[in-house]
Parts: sequence; C-alpha cells; structure tokens
Amino acid sequence: MLPALATHDWDGRYLDGDTPWDTGEPDPHLVALTEDATIGPCRVLEVGCGTGTNALWLSARGFEVTGVDLSSRAIDQALRKAQGCEGGERVSLQVADFLHGELPPGAFDLVFDRGVFHVFDEAADRLRFAERVATVLEPGGRWLSLAGSTEGPAREHGPPRRSARDLVMAVEPHLELVDLRSVAFAARLPSPARAWLMLARRREVAAQPSTKR
Ligand SMILES: C[S@@+](CC[C@H](N)C(=O)[O-])C[C@H]1O[C@@H](n2cnc3c(N)ncnc32)[C@H](O)[C@@H]1O
Repeated sequence: MLPALATHDWDGRYLDGDTPWDTGEPDPHLVALTEDATIGPCRVLEVGCGTGTNALWLSARGFEVTGVDLSSRAIDQALRKAQGCEGGERVSLQVADFLHGELPPGAFDLVFDRGVFHVFDEAADRLRFAERVATVLEPGGRWLSLAGSTEGPAREHGPPRRSARDLVMAVEPHLELVDLRSVAFAARLPSPARAWLMLARRREVAAQPSTKR
C-alpha cells in the first residue's frame, strides 16, 4: 500500500526510498514539448528537482540548468547521478527552499516543476510560489508545471489534488495562462493519476479587469 503524499518529511522519504514520483525516466510531457520545439534550449530552473532526472536530461540537450530542492538527500542523489552522466558537468544542483531562498531575479527563461507547486495546501503558499516563479523569470519567460488534478476517480493515495481554479487563482496575478491540459502523471503508482500540464508566461502587462455588460 502506498502512503499518501501528505507528510512533507522529504529527506525521510528519500532516505526510505518512498518516492513513487521518481520514475528514473524524464517526464514524457517534458520530452514531448521539447521534441515538438515548444521549449528549446534556454536557461532553466527546475524547482524541486528531486534526484535530478529531468535536470540532467535537459542539460544533456543543451539547456543551461539549475536544479534546486529542499531535500539535501535528494540533491546528494542528484549530484551522484550527475557524475559521469552526459550534461552532468554543466548542471548546477543546490539545496534551497524555493519559497524563501535567494535566487537571482530575472535569471531564467523557463521554470519547470513536476509535482512541487501542487504540494502546497494553502492558497497563500501557492500564490507565493507563482509570485516567486514570476520573479526569477525574465519578462515573457515561461513556467511549465505538472500538478496533480481533481480529475479522475476517487483515490486514497498518490499526488495531491488541485483544481483548475486553484491553479488559475495562483497564477493569474503574475503570469498569463498559455495552456492548461488534463494529462496523466507518469509515476510508479498502480494506476496513473490525472494531472494538469500548465504552461504560463510571465506578464509584461497586468491582467485587465473583467468586464460587465
Ligand atoms: C513530489 S516530489 C517531485 C520531485 C521531482 N520534481 C520529480 O518529479 O521527481 C516534490 C519535491 O519538491 C521538493 N520540495 C518541496 N518543497 C520545496 C521547496 N519549498 N523548495 C524546493 N523544493 C521543494 C521536495 O523535496 C521533493 O523533492
């Protein structure tokens, strides 16, 4: 039986190998968006990069990658993987709290998070996360996020569930929603959970007030 993803003892989970999200393969949605050239080599920040699979995959494809994670155990594993792996010598992997740490403003063209934005239960934290994303992006820079969704059958385990409204409420003040798709999460779970695949762009113009006629 897989435990729920409610506990946030990230170091403990990496220590115990209780990491059903860690497939060891690059995320198929990230791969598809790279192959169809929706995203191409650029300066990318992976937030909550875990053991570094996606960061290293992007680095091997010419992206200039910084990966941060709250868990020092995850980063230790990522650094070990980076040794001798294609692109491993160019990737920067750091222990950092994305919500409270110091990252240079405007330093990235793309922020990628897979299953990180969705771990925050409080709307204020999700809003803060989106604000932080916008801060580290260049104007016009994009955020690609995979978040567990409220779609699909009831389940007791697996990724947190967020509604489309949860996402939009957090994102809209700082970024323009470019694409929102209902997809399946690739994870080591008995049946694939539904997820939102969201692409958003840092605003250059504030959202205009909704009109009434
Ligand atoms: C569900 S795991 C996903 C890991 C990785 N993205 C993957 O797909 O394999 C969530 C990750 O977010 C990290 N995390 C949680 N809160 C964070 C924060 N405030 N700053 C940075 N990383 C965080 C955790 O340590 C964990 O590695």
